[in-house]
Amino acid sequence: MSSEKMSLYERVGGEDGIERLVNIFYSKVLADEKLAGFFSNTSIDRLKNMQKEFFSVALGGPIEYSDMDLSRSHQGRGIRVMHFKGFVDHLIETLSEFDLSDDDINQVITEINTYVTDIADDSEAPLA
Ligand code: HEM
Repeated sequence: MSSEKMSLYERVGGEDGIERLVNIFYSKVLADEKLAGFFSNTSIDRLKNMQKEFFSVALGGPIEYSDMDLSRSHQGRGIRVMHFKGFVDHLIETLSEFDLSDDDINQVITEINTYVTDIADDSEAPLA
């Protein structure tokens, strides 16, 4: 893990900052009718845990992710690239409410986009 990524995690306020990010992001995702349905059978606790890990990964926080199989927990749910992109759009909006530079935000999005093949069922579709 690079120190640059660590400092990004720290710049949003470490664990407390992640908690705030999760709350903001979570309300945006669930208010989006294209995305909310994916979470209709998910408990709020599980969803928030997912998002905490998601942000810790995105921001290069101290979370061991190597043994987590994102493909197993997402493939077959019917998540498409368009949903993944919607999710990422909410992420961009959330991050822009924090005191981060465009470079920081781009770094996070670039990192998150690498997971599209694990998450979306039609990930051969172009991201851009
Ligand atoms: C890089 C992006 C993402 C990351 C890092 C991520 C991470 C995770 C993690 C860590 C879990 C928990 C896995 C488990 O309990 O076994 C999870 C579950 C889940 N994710 Fe994601 N996720 C991402 C994108 C998405 C997207 C785009 C959607 C839908 C639009 C989504 C929908 C779900 C659902 C429905 C679950 C199951 C929750 C449950 O068990 O009830 N995820 N995700």
